[in-house]
Amino acid sequence: MDPSRISLRPFKLSDVDDFMVWAGDDQVTKHLRWKTFTSREDALNYIKDVCIPHPWRRSICLDDRSVGFISVMPASGDDIHRADMGYALAAKYWGQGIATIAVKMALGCVFKDIPHLVRLQAMTNVENRASQRVLEKAGFTKEGVLRKYGFLKGKINDLVIYSFICTETLIN
Ligand SMILES: CC(C)(COP(=O)(O)OP(=O)(O)OC[C@H]1O[C@@H](n2cnc3c(N)ncnc32)[C@H](O)[C@@H]1OP(=O)(O)O)[C@@H](O)C(=O)NCCC(=O)NCCS
Repeated sequence: MDPSRISLRPFKLSDVDDFMVWAGDDQVTKHLRWKTFTSREDALNYIKDVCIPHPWRRSICLDDRSVGFISVMPASGDDIHRADMGYALAAKYWGQGIATIAVKMALGCVFKDIPHLVRLQAMTNVENRASQRVLEKAGFTKEGVLRKYGFLKGKINDLVIYSFICTETLIN
């Protein structure tokens, strides 16, 4: 995959049909908290009400067409130094290094975009080896397994937790 074809940008309402391709696929949403989208109208409302106002959510684009998302959600209050990362990619493009490139691109800008951010963390289901490999290849450190931590689609799962620390914003 030529990395110059990949970009991260804010969502647009005009992404809706491309969005439906991956957000409407059970394989993609299996490890996400969201339900699989079945209606274009729901997808349009979700882009408008959730993706666009989100503190830091980007469309992963291939030749400027939406093929996935990556988001960083900062914690609040005294924990604004910490944020959680999530991502997904259209199944058609799995295994070509795109998610790893997208995570690396996010690392290149999110610490500038979100003031005070020091720790970026990501949690994946223990069975989600592909996502764990993405984080490892992007330079995250595996910290351990959180037992029976995450509730997802009717099941309580063990999650692997990874972190990436930005030493430049480290204030103490
Ligand atoms: C996780 C996901 C984003 C990975 O995207 P991707 O572009 O295929 O990832 P990459 O190609 O950059 O890297 C995938 C790595 O996982 C490996 N991998 C894929 N499936 C695997 C499996 N079942 N077991 C072990 N490794 C696996 C690949 O071999 C590759 O590693 P390598 O480069 O060392 O060979 C994609 O599978 C996805 O969207 N999944 C559904 C949503 C999801 O799980 N999101 C994360 C929630 S925490």
